[in-house]
Amino acid sequence: MSQDQGQGTNKNVTITDNSTGKQATFPLIAGTDGPPVIDIRKLHAELGYFTYDPGFIATGSCESDITFIDGDQGILLHRGYPIEQLVEHCNFLEVCYLLLNGQLPNPEEFQEFESVITNHTLLHEQLQYFYRGFRRDAHPMAIMCGVAGALSAFYHDSTDISDPQQRLIASHRMIAKMPTIAGWAYKYSLGQPFMYPKNELGYAENFLWMLFGNPCENYEINPIVAKAMDRILILHADHEQNASTSTVRLSGSSGANPFACISAGIASLWGPAHGGANEAVLNMLREIGNKSNIDEYIKKAKDPNDPFRLMGFGHRVYKNFDPRAKIMQQTCHEVLNELGITDEPLLELAIELERIALEDEYFVSRKLYPNVDFYSGIIFQALGIPTTMFTVLFAVARTVGWISQWKEMIEDPNQKIGRPRQLYTGQAPRFVTPISER
Ligand code: ACO
Repeated sequence: MSQDQGQGTNKNVTITDNSTGKQATFPLIAGTDGPPVIDIRKLHAELGYFTYDPGFIATGSCESDITFIDGDQGILLHRGYPIEQLVEHCNFLEVCYLLLNGQLPNPEEFQEFESVITNHTLLHEQLQYFYRGFRRDAHPMAIMCGVAGALSAFYHDSTDISDPQQRLIASHRMIAKMPTIAGWAYKYSLGQPFMYPKNELGYAENFLWMLFGNPCENYEINPIVAKAMDRILILHADHEQNASTSTVRLSGSSGANPFACISAGIASLWGPAHGGANEAVLNMLREIGNKSNIDEYIKKAKDPNDPFRLMGFGHRVYKNFDPRAKIMQQTCHEVLNELGITDEPLLELAIELERIALEDEYFVSRKLYPNVDFYSGIIFQALGIPTTMFTVLFAVARTVGWISQWKEMIEDPNQKIGRPRQLYTGQAPRFVTPISER
């Protein structure tokens, strides 16, 4: 067992196969928190069965000591620290250090980390030509997938995953370069010049600079906007084994290089059931239009024959308030107040929609609460960020989570290539009839 591996509980679970009378016993392993897991690795050898769990509803895919969620209580911890305290006391780069290294940095460690990240923000100059291959109206998430994956063609000195130093450099590069990649994706869509990173700026400020600055005039970074951006980045930094993180881990389990794995994670994040929900929430609020239409949309969301879902509502793990949604809602009010936006119809609509849904038996009985995406789009809009860039912001923030989880997986002595089994329901073996006889 590795040092941080889950501990045996001295308890077992015995499964009896009623058809054969055969019995097999499997160990229960307990983590620091959360329900224990049944170690079924020998299930097939002992009883000749696989398990069936589409969507991994009850399957632990790995062991991890990075992030913990208690979905019933609405608790989110990174390396043991509650998200609320991290948001209050730390900036995004401190949280990056924590996720990557397991501890919060002291001032010297922070200074060194900040300097390393700052010195990796520039993109290889030739990547500019790579961007020019995209259509101007390409969705920025399409550009993100392409450019993040293309980094493996530019940074050969950090793709040897068996070398810990190369793994570390790749991790720093990903965290440092994602805001530049994202800023350039936005600039490309506008037809404006790419902005180079500015080393004297902090992480969030620099990102804003590359999004909104231009070479012709001074861009004053609003400290309120920069603080809100930093907080949003923290709130999205990691979320244990969600779809995109599991995608990164699965891609990486074959030994693929980290840049390619992060590109796969970005692709998974793009979907509206995952990170694409923040864009979908704003589109939904615009479609609903005003409060008088809410009932109609609630009815649609409840209709099993209608594919419409209330975007920004529901979560696989949270069966209570998503703690990030609470902070996001509070941040939303603060940002609008501080920016002097007193009348934001979409926010009023969102508050009313949330109130009605939370009183509706359908949502109450299914424990569907607002998730992190419900309010983030409204803040992004107030910060002047266009809708198509919403999920890109999520990708920039989540990169540290992806790369920390990827690193943890590579360093896990129990790591194996991910290879799920299946329940085959296709044709039994049959003969091929030549085309002339079909
Ligand atoms: N609107 C209406 N009904 C919903 C919603 C919703 N947003 N979410 C779940 N339900 C219903 C389902 O129809 C189902 O009802 P049923 O039991 O009568 O069939 C029940 O609640 C359970 O839903 P599942 O789809 O089984 O839950 P699952 O855990 O698979 O899905 C998910 C979770 C994908 C997040 C889902 O709630 C959803 O689609 N939400 C909207 C999209 C969204 O906001 N995604 C962001 C997730 S957070 C993130 O990635 C940052």
